[in-house]
Amino acid sequence: MAREREIDQPTGTETTGHEWDGIKELNTPLPRWWLWTWYATIVWAVGYWVLMPAWPLVNSYTTGLLGHSQRAAVAESIAQARQAQSGYVQRIQAASLADIEGDSTLLEFALAGGRSAFAVNCSQCHGLGAAGSLGYPNLNDDDWLWGGTLDGIDQTIRFGIRSSHDDARVGDMPAFLRDEILDRAQIEDVAAYVLSLSETVEDTEAVARGAAIFAEQCVACHQDGGTGSPELGAPNLADGIWLYGGDRANVIQTIASGRAGVMPAWVDRLDAATIKQLAIYVHTLGGGE
Ligand code: HEC
Ligand code: HEC
Repeated sequence: MAREREIDQPTGTETTGHEWDGIKELNTPLPRWWLWTWYATIVWAVGYWVLMPAWPLVNSYTTGLLGHSQRAAVAESIAQARQAQSGYVQRIQAASLADIEGDSTLLEFALAGGRSAFAVNCSQCHGLGAAGSLGYPNLNDDDWLWGGTLDGIDQTIRFGIRSSHDDARVGDMPAFLRDEILDRAQIEDVAAYVLSLSETVEDTEAVARGAAIFAEQCVACHQDGGTGSPELGAPNLADGIWLYGGDRANVIQTIASGRAGVMPAWVDRLDAATIKQLAIYVHTLGGGE
């Protein structure tokens, strides 16, 4: 027999029958709109399980009747983007570097591609903004070790510098102390001369002695006045821009032991169109010749 329903007098609401020290719990029903919304979400969830990928299984998951796959959608949009790019990539492959720079649409495409390829392949050494760091040249300025023409940059990127590639750029500065060409005192003198090309050096006698050594040992690569030779990768020593640091200790270290920085060759790692885009990107960074 059903329990007698008790109605709470002041509110007119049924009680649940629970009672604590005379306090009775009311059985307030959920609002209708709330309940129906709740039922609707349950129906929606069941429909979703059936139609869409939902439940993890041991090695897979329920794929759903609609066959929806985020992975497939991404693959498709990548394929579409490739398709859209392929026309440009082919044009870049066919055009000369100078023609690409002269064509504003191709140039824009090449710069975007070059920027992202640079971030992936080059920024580890040259920095994200290509500003370089000790031993890694800044590619934004107009100071070039190997020349800043489009073709020069392209060649550097393709074959590298002192890389393992047969066509790599090579230019080997001797290690004057280690190879016993000069002694410690002579190296200090020639360092004083090198520094005097870009700043005031107090010890003018050392500078004079250093100038004589420089004329004998260094001009073949660094030229009179230390202006450098791009064909040999010998930097300008008079411009106050230093690859390996311009304080006395660093300059002495360079002369005593040599440096021989290595830049990898990219010709076997990146496709031709990507290398062209990189050359154009680097060329337009600021110091292109
Ligand atoms: C492993 C480090 C490393 C990576 C990676 C690297 N470079 Fe270099 N790069 C160097 C070094 C070191 C030099 C300077 C070598 C020298 O002493 O002549 C250099 C020099 C250059 C130069 C010549 C600069 C001049 O003044 O003539 C260019 C251009 C250049 N890199 C572009 C690139 C591009 C583009 C990439 C990416 C595809 C790249 N580098 C990746 C280390 C690197
Ligand atoms: C055979 C060519 C050659 C000769 C000779 C040579 N150098 Fe160099 N020098 C280079 C090259 C190449 C570099 C670039 C260093 C590197 O990346 O290894 C360089 C770099 C330097 C640097 C570093 C510049 C910087 O920006 O940090 C200094 C300093 C220097 N040389 C001084 C001298 C002095 C002084 C002599 C003579 C005693 C000399 N070099 C002789 C080729 C030469």
